[in-house]
Amino acid sequence: MLSYFLGNPRRKKILIPIGIILLLCIGGAIAITIRSKPLLFLPSPPLKDLAAQHGIELGNFAIATLIDESSYNQILTSQFNLALIDNTPNWYFTDGGLRPGPTAYNFKQIDRIVAYAQANHMTIQAHHLLWGEDKWLPNWLKNGNYTQAQLMDIMHDHIKTVVEQYRGKISEWSVVNEAFTRGQHVNGLSDWWADHVGGDAYIDQAFIWARQADPQAKLILNDFANDHYNPVSDAMYNYIKAAKARGVPIDGIGMQMHIDGTHAPDKQEVITNMQRFAALGVGVYVTEFDVNMSAVPVSSASKDQIEGSIYYNMARACIESKVCHSFAELGITDKETWYNYMGPSTADARPLMFDTTYQPKQAYYSFRTALEQP
Ligand code: GLA
Repeated sequence: MLSYFLGNPRRKKILIPIGIILLLCIGGAIAITIRSKPLLFLPSPPLKDLAAQHGIELGNFAIATLIDESSYNQILTSQFNLALIDNTPNWYFTDGGLRPGPTAYNFKQIDRIVAYAQANHMTIQAHHLLWGEDKWLPNWLKNGNYTQAQLMDIMHDHIKTVVEQYRGKISEWSVVNEAFTRGQHVNGLSDWWADHVGGDAYIDQAFIWARQADPQAKLILNDFANDHYNPVSDAMYNYIKAAKARGVPIDGIGMQMHIDGTHAPDKQEVITNMQRFAALGVGVYVTEFDVNMSAVPVSSASKDQIEGSIYYNMARACIESKVCHSFAELGITDKETWYNYMGPSTADARPLMFDTTYQPKQAYYSFRTALEQP
């Protein structure tokens, strides 16, 4: 039969291109399968189940640009039960951000991640209602020449509108971010909000408005460099103590925990620091964990080992403190981390548990071991 077809020159003319097209289609299909195949076989039980044995929720970043990628989606939904919505809740975040104008709200980007997290039965933690970092604030706000009173009204409207919009859906809010590090000008930073509304009294007010907008949501005061004892964590401790006494509804302290691999905090110190906050009546939330290995002056293999031991120690600190509500990492794969956008000094940060090809690193195995232990 085949020789009949191929022997006929007219049919040959038709069949050869069809054959080529078919081969191309099959090749393409194989390539797509290889690229998108869930390439992982991760041990059972998943990390989230191990963490649940300690009463800890395990979080990771539901990145808008990656949740449709099969490997990312597979790891996020199988290993984690807390979805972080980071970046998109900032007032300005790329075109079409949350606050395009003084009276305008655009919920499209947040809605997409909320729907994704809900479909996957994940708790949702969103970052941030207020963050005094210039670059995430829109020009209409920064250049609007508003009075302090007008800015407080704008802030109120924002918190009320956004929190009410997601009432019953987003259950944890980072209400204020980095007010203490910025208030102390750590790394030369400053807090746009404090600078424009007359100091940090806005923090109390933000929590009060957030509570009014959703009485059930957990309200978190978030910052970096507050995982161990230093002037930042001391200032937060003193503030929370006084604010609680004034009746300000703060439910949690958020510890970003962007750990510098050259200066990892001492496990025991982190434990006692977490416990002193818990003694004030707030929960402890690790909100953005990662480990920047850029400046660690050792070979690549040794970097992996050191990073692994930091993941292990910090997970153990969270567990052994007995006051840690959740442990969330700011990304899954080294392919997509904020350090990749911070210039050459952090180009080799490789801060996460999976490498750029989604293979689990030592950090994953060490973290897993930490969760497996009682
Ligand atoms: C800070 C913020 C996060 C995230 C990271 C990286 O830590 O709290 O929301 O934006 O920076 O950009």
